[in-house]
Amino acid sequence: MDYDVDRVRASFPALDSGTAFFDGPGGSQVPHQVADAIAATLTSGLSNRGTVTDSERRADEVVTGARAATGDLLGVDPGGVVFGRSMTQLTFDLARALAKTWEHGDEVVITRLDHDANVRPWKRVADGLGMTVRWVDFDRDTGELLFDPGVLSDRTRLVAVTGASNLLGTRPDLAALSSAVHEAGALFFVDGVHLTPHAPVAVRDLGADFYACSPYKFFGPHLGVLAADPALLELVQPDKLLPSSDQVPERFELGTLPYELLAGVTAAVDFIADIAPGSATERRGRVLESMQRVEAYEELLFERLLSGLDAIDGVRRHGAPLRRTPTVLFSVDGVPDRVLYEGLAARGVNAPASSFYAIEASRWLGLGDDGAVRAGIAPYTSEEDVDRLLTGVAEIVAAAS
Ligand SMILES: Cc1ncc(COP(=O)(O)O)c(C=O)c1O
Repeated sequence: MDYDVDRVRASFPALDSGTAFFDGPGGSQVPHQVADAIAATLTSGLSNRGTVTDSERRADEVVTGARAATGDLLGVDPGGVVFGRSMTQLTFDLARALAKTWEHGDEVVITRLDHDANVRPWKRVADGLGMTVRWVDFDRDTGELLFDPGVLSDRTRLVAVTGASNLLGTRPDLAALSSAVHEAGALFFVDGVHLTPHAPVAVRDLGADFYACSPYKFFGPHLGVLAADPALLELVQPDKLLPSSDQVPERFELGTLPYELLAGVTAAVDFIADIAPGSATERRGRVLESMQRVEAYEELLFERLLSGLDAIDGVRRHGAPLRRTPTVLFSVDGVPDRVLYEGLAARGVNAPASSFYAIEASRWLGLGDDGAVRAGIAPYTSEEDVDRLLTGVAEIVAAAS
């Protein structure tokens, strides 16, 4: 396998602690290159964006650089890349802006598989307007989304679906969904927060009109991203201040952007492009090659993790989707999730127990609001990490029986 995990790990100061981080789906660890870029930018001499002084130009370059990097990561036009505080904030803002053109009797489609950030914003605006909310369920055993095009009508305004479930890892067939959504004349919003760190992403191929992700899930700082065709963004009118720019994408960015964090976004994309590149020379090509190798590496480790869990008496995995990210949710009969979570933490293994805000999914699975234990593989996860988690679970189960 053409993947040097030791080289990848060497960039992450947090790994020196010896902790095995399986909590990447909640936020990845950060390579020093990203932290260095943030610190260097913050002290480099920065003013508000402009063209007159060096410090104004520097701020401007940081913003355009981060849009270009995100364009290379997602395969989108940099002119349609919007930055915000979080995916949640951007989705609420977009929902409120789109809702200005929606009315009583219109419909939105949301799923029980999604993180609440791709549920509540749509449900709130729909309920406020007296719109019909249609739910798409998922199979409780497999974790597969059960999308029936019959859920669509000529009143459907938007369909919101996850690119990958942060709870079960399920990766719905977005391209197939998007054809049905577009045939119905609706917009397709894809939550790519959990997909982006684990797969090469080409937003156009997925058929998403809007694609959201969060750089802090892929080695970057705590920010959110919304990407769309600039021509589509032109049609949307968010609330904004009178003197602030009405250009796209600035129209959607409230207040002053966090320039230093945007430098961190660029550094994170550059880091990804350098994880395991092949022969491509352009950054977009290197990102795709690296992510293909990350995907293959993570899959190998994930198989080791799943077969190890299955070999431990009493472990119950939730969901078994065919196409998935390397993310597993599990419980152990007779052992409270909290005991597992704390027992693993005591062994230097971070694998928390929660619903992880995929609250509808957790309830649908019969796990209530507490969820179960989640373990996610990241590009810096090693075989030793996996074995430590498995040994930890086995020890905790043995101690409880
Ligand atoms: C799948 C998914 N969607 C959305 C979010 C929310 O992202 P943010 O924290 O940027 O609002 C998360 C965060 O865990 C997530 O995992």
